[in-house]
Amino acid sequence: MPKHPIIIDNDTAQDDCVTILLALTDPAADLRAITTVAGNVPFDRQVANAQMTLSVAGQLGKVPLHLGCRQPMMRPWVSAEDVHGDGSGGLDIELDPDAISEEHAVDALIRITAEQPGEVSIVAIGPLTNIATAVVKDRRFVDNVKSLYIMGGSNNGRGNVTAAAEFNFYVDPHAAQIVMDAGFHDMHIVTWDPVTIRDATYSRARYEELTSVDTPIARFFAKVCDTTLSFNESVGIDGSTHPDSITLAALLHPEIVLEEGRYRVDVDTQSELTMGYSAMAWDKFGTEANAHVPERLDGEAFYSMLEQMLQTQSTPSRPIHGLDA
Ligand code: BDR
Ligand code: CA
Repeated sequence: MPKHPIIIDNDTAQDDCVTILLALTDPAADLRAITTVAGNVPFDRQVANAQMTLSVAGQLGKVPLHLGCRQPMMRPWVSAEDVHGDGSGGLDIELDPDAISEEHAVDALIRITAEQPGEVSIVAIGPLTNIATAVVKDRRFVDNVKSLYIMGGSNNGRGNVTAAAEFNFYVDPHAAQIVMDAGFHDMHIVTWDPVTIRDATYSRARYEELTSVDTPIARFFAKVCDTTLSFNESVGIDGSTHPDSITLAALLHPEIVLEEGRYRVDVDTQSELTMGYSAMAWDKFGTEANAHVPERLDGEAFYSMLEQMLQTQSTPSRPIHGLDA
């Protein structure tokens, strides 16, 4: 099976952890590095969550982990702890400082993509601060990236932080707009509405079926996802949401993209009311498209991928406190 060289740029909590696990267990993925960016939970907590995730798969120290931008470009950081708690369901790990690269995430993104121009793809599933900074630091970055898969925004639909805005675009809308304008030649945007909430949300019954497997990875998955599932149910979303991991799946297995459109996507950076809103213009408006936007994903096929991932056996690299057998 041909492997896709990828970097995951993320704000490690809940489904970001699932995305890393999918990349570590899916034979179609060749995970070159993980980069972190300010987003879901306090930055240092994200680093611990990333180390736990690598550890549960037995891969701590084997995949480079680079720390990136610690705040959005122009606006104060906004957390999603109300949604995700600490992002790992109270698990903890003693940090391994040797498993953190000294190279900044932005430099790693630029370097790794420059080493094999046009070969390495990026899965950006947090606020786009690192990606935008790489764009402004080295314009060659844009051409060197093979494909850029983003989780962010909604297709002229509902937000989740505000009525208008989805979290990743809301937290750093200026970075998002830099990325929209950058000229990436193969950019894909997986949205919150409609795609995540319709195609990548699994009811509690199905979630329990998923997590009934007894592997360290399945126990870890249940810990990191439980808090978000309960939050979702409290706000009328019927299930466990997997926006980030289905974004990676769309890159690795494009056959799960059942429908998609080409859009000119722009992100609002002006109005407090609609800050972070993604306006997606279709061909009627005569604008040149900058992104592929999936409009329907195969949620059943993705569910099977999660099932397979959860059955993978592993020996954790170091103890994860709270992850009892
Ligand atoms: C996005 O926000 C984060 O909380 C999730 O990890 C996902 O990337 C969904 O709006
Ligand atoms: Ca994320």
